[in-house]
Amino acid sequence: MPDPDRLDLTNRPRRLRRLESLRRLVAETRLSVDSLVYPLFIEPGAGIEQPIEAMPGQSILSPDRAADLARTAVGLGIPAVLLFGRPRFKDDTGSDADAADGAVQEAIRRIKDAAPELTVITDVCLCAYTNHGHCGVLDGETIDNDRSVAAIARVALSHAQAGADVVAPSDMMDGRVGAIRAVLDDAGHSETGILAYAAKYASAFYGPFREAADSAPSFGDRRSYQMDPPNVREAMREIELDIAEGADIIMVKPALAYLDVIAAARRRFDLPLAAYSVSGEYSMIKAAAERGWIDEQKVVTESMIAIARAGAGIIVTYWALDIARWQG
Ligand code: PBG
Repeated sequence: MPDPDRLDLTNRPRRLRRLESLRRLVAETRLSVDSLVYPLFIEPGAGIEQPIEAMPGQSILSPDRAADLARTAVGLGIPAVLLFGRPRFKDDTGSDADAADGAVQEAIRRIKDAAPELTVITDVCLCAYTNHGHCGVLDGETIDNDRSVAAIARVALSHAQAGADVVAPSDMMDGRVGAIRAVLDDAGHSETGILAYAAKYASAFYGPFREAADSAPSFGDRRSYQMDPPNVREAMREIELDIAEGADIIMVKPALAYLDVIAAARRRFDLPLAAYSVSGEYSMIKAAAERGWIDEQKVVTESMIAIARAGAGIIVTYWALDIARWQG
């Protein structure tokens, strides 16, 4: 037995943990405002700022208010926003989703006017716009992949025409990235990028978002199109297909429960890799912090570092503004 009073240690990892400045110096992962994307929910109308109950601190905004908040984001150094639209009306095929005068298209124009230097990314999906709440077009009670892809490509085009810098399909239909690339290129939008929700899981962590977007499916669930949580090799295949179809940025979603998927994607692919820290991740921490059970800033910082350490260079998070303020 070594005598604890006479330890002869050459290696003392604790040496580098002695000072805050030294710990900062040797940190392997850094959380930068440059990585952050801030999601905004856009409602038709003007002067609207309606708090989302299940997501304290977040609101549904009309295009004018969204433009104001986008300027705040720019002021804090945030490079990008991600827009989610809410429709004027819902129907079978989600036809308001590709309207040139829709709320999200209007918000794109307003934001690009108010903050031209900000990267505007738009979520491309039908679920908030269809009366059945699914992310595609139905054939009876099943989702018709190919008709859905055609509709989704039209939505992406309407966003590009309104001035979106990057479109982000979140529907998980097969072939949508290639179809969007072709439609954009044909219409002269070859500079518009595609951020593919490449490995998006059928997750219960989207619950609070569906209140905000009013996009819960009216029957069934999304498991015939979004991925099954046990699968990581399948995620690699989904990502590979999206890259082959022309994705510029790939994304894994949700983030915290899928750090292994992020890490596997980082090892295997060279494209910029994003992770979406989703509404359920936000609401859980918010709720516990409100009760005084955890320290919000510390838990959020630790969670974001974990996502970055796993390999995500881009993090979509509802805390983007707060993180920027905490770092400021
Ligand atoms: C739309 C979409 C969803 C989210 C992003 N885009 C919901 C879903 O797929 O049901 C979730 C975002 C979040 O929970 O923060 N398809």
